[in-house]
Amino acid sequence: MACSGLFAAPERDIGALAGNGALSGYNRRPMRVPAGRLLALPLLSLLLPGLAACTGTPQPSAVKAKGKAGSSARIVADTETPATPTAQPARDPHSFSHPDEVVVEHLKLDLTVDFTKKILTGRASLRLRNKTGADRLFLDTHGLDIRKVLLDGAAEAKFTLHDEQPILGSALEIPITPATQWVSIDYSTRPEAAALQWLDPQQTAGQKLPFLLSQSESILARTWVPCQDSPGVRMTYEATLRVPPGMLALMSASNRAQKNADGVYQFEMPQRIPSYLLAIAVGDMSFRAFDARSGVYAETPVTEAAAWELAETPKMIDAAEKLYGPYQWGRYDILVLPPSFPYGGMENPRLTFATPTILARDRSLVSLIAHELAHSWSGNLVTNATWNDFWLNEGVTTYAERRIMETLSGKDYADMLAVIGRQDLDRAIEDAGGLTSKDTALHLDIGTRDPDEVTGDVAYEKGALFLRLLEQSVGRQRFDAFLHTYFQTFAFQSMDSDRFLAYLKQNLLGNDAALAQKLQVDAWVYAPGIPSNAPVVHSALLDQVDQQLAALAKGAPASQLQTQGWTTNHWLHFLRNLPAATDKARMADLDAAFHFSDSSNSEILDEWLLRALRTGYDPAWPALERFLTSQGRRKFLGPLYTEMAKTPAGAEMGLRIYEKARPGYHPVARQMVDKILGWRQP
Ligand code: BES
Ligand code: ZN
Repeated sequence: MACSGLFAAPERDIGALAGNGALSGYNRRPMRVPAGRLLALPLLSLLLPGLAACTGTPQPSAVKAKGKAGSSARIVADTETPATPTAQPARDPHSFSHPDEVVVEHLKLDLTVDFTKKILTGRASLRLRNKTGADRLFLDTHGLDIRKVLLDGAAEAKFTLHDEQPILGSALEIPITPATQWVSIDYSTRPEAAALQWLDPQQTAGQKLPFLLSQSESILARTWVPCQDSPGVRMTYEATLRVPPGMLALMSASNRAQKNADGVYQFEMPQRIPSYLLAIAVGDMSFRAFDARSGVYAETPVTEAAAWELAETPKMIDAAEKLYGPYQWGRYDILVLPPSFPYGGMENPRLTFATPTILARDRSLVSLIAHELAHSWSGNLVTNATWNDFWLNEGVTTYAERRIMETLSGKDYADMLAVIGRQDLDRAIEDAGGLTSKDTALHLDIGTRDPDEVTGDVAYEKGALFLRLLEQSVGRQRFDAFLHTYFQTFAFQSMDSDRFLAYLKQNLLGNDAALAQKLQVDAWVYAPGIPSNAPVVHSALLDQVDQQLAALAKGAPASQLQTQGWTTNHWLHFLRNLPAATDKARMADLDAAFHFSDSSNSEILDEWLLRALRTGYDPAWPALERFLTSQGRRKFLGPLYTEMAKTPAGAEMGLRIYEKARPGYHPVARQMVDKILGWRQP
C-alpha cells in the first residue's frame, strides 16, 4: 500500500459537505450548506506514531493497561447557587438558546457509535429548570437528524427545526409546559459532523480498528449533541456509549482504564460543565498510570512513548494546586490522539486531549500539558461567559502555564517561553490587521462571525502579558493570592470582562482609581493594540542565540556557530529571527549544518518549513509534503498553506499536497485549509 505518512488515506474523502440527510419533524425547511469556516488561531507541534502507521507490519493490538483509571477518587459536586449573585448576562450571540428562561441542568446521553455509517445515533435526554414558566425550549443543533422528541418520557412533542444558518446551525424549538422536567431527543449525527473525525483503520497507528475523536470548542458540540451550546450554561452529564467489541470508549468524564467485553461504557460527570467541554474518543487505546490520580491513554502502539514524554504531569498538578488551590475534577488524565487531532491540546475535563506532535522524545514540548492542566482552573472552573471574552480562558491560562513551567523548570525556562510568546503576539497582531484592529482588544466583538476565525493568539499572549503586568505591579505574592481567591470565588461560574475588571479593581487594586488609571487596565481589556506600560520580556538564555544570529548576519558559516546545549526553545528563537537576507544558499548551509529538514521535532520543523517557503528553499519540499500529510494540527497547517497560497507555483504545490492530505484532516482543519486554498470539491 502506498503510504504517505500517518494518514495513509483512503482514495475518497468522506465528503465534508455532502449528504443533506432528510430532516424529520415539523416545519421542515430547506437546508443551506454551511460556508467554509476559517480559523485564525494559529495552532502549534510530530509524527512519531505516523511512522508506525506506515510500516505495513501489523501492530500488536493487545491492551497493556496498568493502573486503574476507573477507580474514581471521590468528587464533590459543585454547589447550585453562585457565590456572588450576578446580573442577568446578555444572550450569547453564538447560541439560539434562552438560558435566561429555561436552563438545561443535566444531560443524559445514550448513543451507539456506528463506524460503518460514521454516525452516532440514540437519545439525548435533558433535564430542565424552567425559571420563567416558559412554554418553549430552544436548543442548538447543527446538522443533526432529529427523529422524535418526547416530553417527560411519554408525550411526543411537535418540534420545529428552524432554517440552518451557516455558522450557527439550526435552532430546535420544542414546546414545553412550566411543569416539563425532561425532554428526550432521538437523533443521529451525520458523517460530516464538524466536531467529529472518523478515522479508518489504515489512518491509525494500530492499523486494525477505526478511531473516533471529537473537538467541541468553540461551537461544535451542537454538531453531535442537541444542547444549549453556550459557554455561559453549565450542566452535569452522564452517558452510555455502545461501541464495537475490542474498542475502548472515553469521554470528558469518569473513565475506565481498560476495555470491557460488551462494548458498553458508562460515564459520569458530576461537576457542571459548559457544552464545549463535551468530548468523546473511541479506538484501540490503552492506559498507563503516572500515579494514583493521573495517567495517559493513547493508541496502543504509542502508549509507552507517551507515558515517558508526559511523566512530569503529576509534578505539574502539584505545582498548579500550590498556586491556585485544589484540583477539583477528580482524576487528571491525558489522551494522546492520532496525529489528525486539529489542535495542540484541548482541556476536556478529567481528560485533556493532546496531539502526538508534542512527543519530541526529549520532553521539550510539555508546556502544552501545563497549559491544558491550567485550564482546570482558568476556563473549566471559571469560564468565559461568551466567546467575546475568550481571553479570560486563554490569556489567564497562558499566564498560569508559564508559572507552572517556572516551578518545574526554573525562571530561565519560563522566560524563554515568555519571549517566544511575545513573538507570537507580534505575529498575531499583524495577522489581525495591525495595532489598530479591533480584533487586537482583549474583549472581542465577534458579532456573528465564527469564533474559531476570530479568537487568535492575541487573547493568549496579550492576556498573559496583562496578567504579568498586574503581577509585577502588586508583587507576586499578592497577585498569586488574588488569582487563587478569584478561582475559588467564581468556581463553576462564568465570567466576563466587566465583572473581571470590577473584581480586580476591588480586590487587587483596593478601589484605587488612580492606580487603575495608571495601570491602564481598561485600555488593556477594551482598547486595541498594546498599552505603553506592557512589561518588557527578556530571556538571558536566548541572548546567546541572538549573539549567534548576529554572527550569522555578518556572514559566519553555519558550521561555525556556537550551538552546544541548545534546546527546542533556542532553536525556535533562532529560526524565527534568521537574518532578513537569508537566501536559498544560506538555507542550504543551515540545513547541512543542523539537518532541519529531517527534524523530528514538530515545532522546529514547522518554523523551518515556513522559512523554506519564504526563501524558496526547494530541497525542503519533500519534508514539507511529509509534514502536511502526516499530521493535521491547525497551528501548523494554517501558516504553511497560507505561505504557499501567496504565489501561483506555491498554490499549485499546496493544492497538490492538500488533495492527498485532506482526507486525513479533521473537519475543522479542512474548513480552514479549504478557505486558504479556495478548495472546491472535485
Ligand atoms: N482551548 C484551546 C484550544 C481551542 C481554542 C480549541 C479555541 C478551539 C477553539 C487549548 O487550550 C489551546 O489553547 N491549545 C493550544 C495549545 C496551547 C499550548 C497554546 C493549541 O492547540 O495550539
Ligand atoms: Zn488553551
